Amino acid sequence: MENKIYSFEIEILKEEELDIDARKAVEEAKKASQNSYAPYSKFQVGAAVVLNDGKIVQGNNQENIAYPSGLCAERVAVFSANAIYPKSAIRILAIAAQTGGKFTEKPITPCGSCRQVLSETEIRQKAPIEIYLYGTKEILHIHSVADLLPLAFDF
Ligand code: THU
Repeated sequence: MENKIYSFEIEILKEEELDIDARKAVEEAKKASQNSYAPYSKFQVGAAVVLNDGKIVQGNNQENIAYPSGLCAERVAVFSANAIYPKSAIRILAIAAQTGGKFTEKPITPCGSCRQVLSETEIRQKAPIEIYLYGTKEILHIHSVADLLPLAFDF
């Protein structure tokens, strides 16, 4: 028998420790959360992706009365970026969420379906996506989608 151990690094940062690009991405994700359509959950999520040429595309969760028809902020951002700039790679993804008019203390992490979509995006572009998950108490920095979805489906 052979054992394999998978591990990954998470940096835990304060807002003032973010570099310029990450700070901008987080700001854009926070702004994007304001335009979320979340009348059912009242949980407003914003995402921002920074492309390799510096362009930024925002996304936010778009809910629907037929619940499964809605979409998470991360997928709205990634699909929009891929639709508008299909040749650009995504360098950074930032996510922020607010509820009751306040940003969450704890960073929120992408759901399984978003991880799957992010994983394929990263594999397609052959370059890792830096992920920043914003919370008022701490920001998590993860270096690749592969860390969030190890052993992703592929064939
Ligand atoms: N949501 C996101 O947009 N991103 C996440 O990472 C987690 C959850 C949305 C889906 C739904 O509109 C609301 O948050 C509550 O689950």
